[in-house]
Amino acid sequence: MTPGGPLLPSAPFPVGRPRRLRRTPALRRLVAETRLHPAELVLPVFVREGITEPVAISAMPGVVQHTLDSLVEEAHRCVAAGLGGIMVFGVPTEKDGRGSGADDPDGILNVALARLVEEVGNEIVVMSDLCLDEFTDHGHCGVLAADGSVDNDATLERYAAMALAQAATGTPVLGLSGMMDGQVGYVRAALDAAGYTDTAILAYAAKYTSGLYGPFREAVQSSLVGDRATYQQDPANGREALREIETDVAEGADLVMVKPAGPHLDVVAAAAAVSPVPVAAYQISGEYAQIEAAAERGWVDRDRVMMEALLGIRRAGASIILSYHALDAAALLGR
Ligand code: PBG
Repeated sequence: MTPGGPLLPSAPFPVGRPRRLRRTPALRRLVAETRLHPAELVLPVFVREGITEPVAISAMPGVVQHTLDSLVEEAHRCVAAGLGGIMVFGVPTEKDGRGSGADDPDGILNVALARLVEEVGNEIVVMSDLCLDEFTDHGHCGVLAADGSVDNDATLERYAAMALAQAATGTPVLGLSGMMDGQVGYVRAALDAAGYTDTAILAYAAKYTSGLYGPFREAVQSSLVGDRATYQQDPANGREALREIETDVAEGADLVMVKPAGPHLDVVAAAAAVSPVPVAAYQISGEYAQIEAAAERGWVDRDRVMMEALLGIRRAGASIILSYHALDAAALLGR
């Protein structure tokens, strides 16, 4: 624009005026490209063995470790809110080197899954976390080799045993979150051989190592020392994520997931562009905690930021979102 000249040339004015479509709520509603719906939201939940009352998780205000009964009540709330699914994590009282509680039919996770399938299985998709970290005394997602490293192939056998135990509960979708190479193919073969051909696999295909898992470690009382950098992805890498997705799809994944969501929206978008199967994104514990902490201090408007974060994940291309805000968001959305 020329200083001192006319502000705008006279009509016809060749420059677009995008503000025209932002003028009224009705116009904005009409042209919104992205909408959130409760059916695409999944609530992750924790169930803890041996407690009689729910236990608060301090780093995740509003989230608790459930008893079996309070878990069932929460699941009914999810159904009433029209959520698409519920993802279950177990917190056992006993842990050991091989994570024995994971494939024990009487282990807390398997008992909880069976109960939920029975109570709400026709109305909402019950999903399991399939990983050893909640069940191992060293806190790693697999079993350890003699040198202390995580033994990929020995872990696959444990995952297969866990998958059969979970499939036996009637859980329709198993969430493989351990990031071992070949886990999808190995578990798929084990399920098929046992006749569980209808049990679906949600592969945490692109799971980054992240400081944002911190609050989750409290939620599952993880005993991990150190990190998971030898099996989870380096946040510096995007290409690797596409390789993980391609491999998991080739091995039979029915759904793929990117996690955490917020810091990796480019990866969500890239996955959505190439994946032949639905793409999910997991807004993890630390993402939830950041919003809650800032809101608690009055620094941000909780509901606005909550919806904006979810909308951004959806716009990036995720068709399914796992979020600890799922119930709160659904309440704002209506059905
Ligand atoms: C592995 C698993 C983790 C989460 C989901 N599945 C922990 C990890 O990878 O360290 C984290 C979820 C969250 O932080 O909300 N069982």
